[in-house]
Amino acid sequence: MTTIALHALRKEYAGQVAIPDLNLEIADGEFFTLLGPSGCGKTTLLRMIAGFNSIEAGTISFDGTVINDRPASERNIGMVFQNYALFPQMTAAKNVGFGLQTRKIARAEAERRVGEALESVRMSHLKDRLPGQMSGGQQQRVALARALVIQPALLLMDEPLSNLDAKLRVEMRDTIRQAQRAAGITTVYVTHDQEEAMAVSDRIAVMNLGVVQQVGSPAEIYRHPANRFVAEFIGKTNILERDLVRQDGRTLVELSAGQRLDVTDLVGPSATGKVHISVRPEAVKAASSGLAAEVVDETFLGSHSQVRARLESGDIIEFLEFSRRSALWTQGDRVFLEVDTDQLTLFDAASGVSVMRGAGD
Ligand SMILES: Nc1ncnc2c1ncn2[C@@H]1O[C@H](COP(=O)(O)OP(=O)(O)O)[C@@H](O)[C@H]1O
Ligand SMILES: [Mg+2]
Repeated sequence: MTTIALHALRKEYAGQVAIPDLNLEIADGEFFTLLGPSGCGKTTLLRMIAGFNSIEAGTISFDGTVINDRPASERNIGMVFQNYALFPQMTAAKNVGFGLQTRKIARAEAERRVGEALESVRMSHLKDRLPGQMSGGQQQRVALARALVIQPALLLMDEPLSNLDAKLRVEMRDTIRQAQRAAGITTVYVTHDQEEAMAVSDRIAVMNLGVVQQVGSPAEIYRHPANRFVAEFIGKTNILERDLVRQDGRTLVELSAGQRLDVTDLVGPSATGKVHISVRPEAVKAASSGLAAEVVDETFLGSHSQVRARLESGDIIEFLEFSRRSALWTQGDRVFLEVDTDQLTLFDAASGVSVMRGAGD
């Protein structure tokens, strides 16, 4: 079993702060993802956990024991990188078995474990292939088997799917998830791809500029983003800049000319003044009444369309249309938009922090 606790962790590169002060707890067997834009510190943090980076302050604990000074080779970690890093002159089976050889595992036992590891990533039939005779996806399966075969206490993966094409990425994330579940290994996974993160993770830490913005399940961070950065980074959203209006003990916001929405039950007591409202595309639909708007364009995507429409306020709202109309809308068509208020999130305009009831109040 392995739990990870990061406490007041700090990383500097030659005096430049990459991670100022980071706290996280990862549960035993959890599939935990570090998600954020390029340069936000994901690899830096992963390398600190692995023991490849210095730590300027704070502690890393495995199962309650501080391991800051434990060398990488004694942390019992399996790693998978973006660029596979297989030995080119060794077959798939030899690559997977290499870590067992160096650990002096008896031959019969090693063969059994290599067989199992290859099976868990569905590569048994290609065990005698050299890396040069395998596709990128197959090489990455071997790299994953190689990380799992040593039965590590912890599995670390840094953008393992970025070199693969879109279709393979989707296939491979199922393989990764299944293999991780079967092995029950605590896993820290790094990606900048929010869809990938949502598909594989038990929980996600969204990072920006070396700071954790929010930790939660995929549904939590999607439905209840803690701040505007998270709302815009996870999925698509429309942002409307509005003023909160207090009237007769109620809190209202004017979405469009003359159309006030009562948000008294949505927002917490700290909500005042200017707000940014996140409106997810799926929270909006064309209806017989609602916000008056004019279609800007419609993009047909097969299962649905993506429609953009301009409110009377001038704001452009993007929404999804699933109905099977015979003709698409064209520019200038008049529509009414119905907004599902349960799917809105309001942020303080200045700080970007959620002012929703229960968020931080
Ligand atoms: N070896 C290094 N030396 C100096 N700065 C680095 C080094 N590695 C990363 N950085 C800096 O630290 C920040 C975080 O980088 P990194 O952890 O690679 O981000 P990510 O993996 O999220 O893209 C960036 O500003 C990057 O330029
Ligand atoms: Mg990186």
